[in-house]
Amino acid sequence: MQEALHHFETPFYAYDLQTLRSRLTQMQQAFPSAEIFYAMKANPRLGILRRLLEWDVFLEAVSLGEVHRAYRAGFKKTEVLLNGPVKTPAILQELAEIGVPILGLDSLADTQRVSQLLPGSRVLLRVNPDLPIATHDHLATGRGESKFGIMPDDVEKVLAAARRGNLEVLGLHVHLGSALSHLEDYHAGYAVMEQLYRQHGPFQVLNLGGGFGLDLDPASLAPSAIALAERLGAELWLEPGRYLVAEAGVLVSKIWGTKHTRRNFMLLDAGMMTLLRPMLYAAEHPVIPLYKGKKMQVWDLAGPVCESGDILARDVQLPTPKEGDALAILQAGAYGSSMSSNYLDYPRPLEILWNGLEWEVLRRKQSWEALFADEI
Ligand code: LLP
Repeated sequence: MQEALHHFETPFYAYDLQTLRSRLTQMQQAFPSAEIFYAMKANPRLGILRRLLEWDVFLEAVSLGEVHRAYRAGFKKTEVLLNGPVKTPAILQELAEIGVPILGLDSLADTQRVSQLLPGSRVLLRVNPDLPIATHDHLATGRGESKFGIMPDDVEKVLAAARRGNLEVLGLHVHLGSALSHLEDYHAGYAVMEQLYRQHGPFQVLNLGGGFGLDLDPASLAPSAIALAERLGAELWLEPGRYLVAEAGVLVSKIWGTKHTRRNFMLLDAGMMTLLRPMLYAAEHPVIPLYKGKKMQVWDLAGPVCESGDILARDVQLPTPKEGDALAILQAGAYGSSMSSNYLDYPRPLEILWNGLEWEVLRRKQSWEALFADEI
């Protein structure tokens, strides 16, 4: 890391290939019979997707752009599953041109449009299990109040529409939410799926989604998921995102000063434009100093953006820094870069990967030309 700091300008994201590999191995060992569709929204760098392709992982996408990216990385249309609640006619027409992936259908409207414009497609119907999922409100997709999925009572109607519309229904899909840590939520979700499969099945596929929190051990979940798929005679599909990549990445930032209002601040060159999660979900990312210092103090880490909410971490114990010292914000491999923005014309940062031998550049820091390229 010191070498990277010496060579590259901060802020940057740094990933570790070995960690990615070992997280995937943990998942594959826990679920040896499952097909893994990596939720590429967590981190869509081509350099990461190509590795996952080599390791026999498929992709879960949620936009036309992600499908383009998946194909560009070398995935075939049978290896990509496109979810998401809105698929416009323009999107479906473009899919017809570039290759129609497996489609996750989210409503009756979605089903009718797909059967009209892409008859013959292979589809899954996403269920809203209507459960009180325990996670941040923004991430609780399996609650009855969320916009996602088809309510259990409506599955029959949408299924009939899909079959009438000449779609090949592979099975049902549930994604309970994200950053989940309670096994009971999964078990409750599985019970809803079991009932629906008994009512409307059999189906070839059972897609139990992703959402695995970092403190959730996949091995503790696997026996019930695997047993369920076996009882139902279906292939098990999973869509982990965060679990595979979060721990494999850090955001490295330098400290350009300290200041004291009623709180102690370190002033960083990374902020909400580079890591939105603390601001959007009150997410807490561990921080480690990449410098030495004697006096420990409690700090808030402030970004450069003109918003008081632009704070990457609060109440962190760190040694007093010198100007230009660096720190690493951990668990930034998932939803760090992918949710970064050009707010205030900050260019997208550099992204590098340690492959065991050297730092590979996965994405260069965005140039000024690229930043302004699309404007007239
Ligand atoms: N499958 C579906 C249908 C999803 O919507 C998602 C995430 C996943 C799988 C993967 O979930 P994961 O295993 O990564 O939890 N930006 C938020 C997370 C949003 C997740 C949206 N959907 C964050 O930074 O926490």
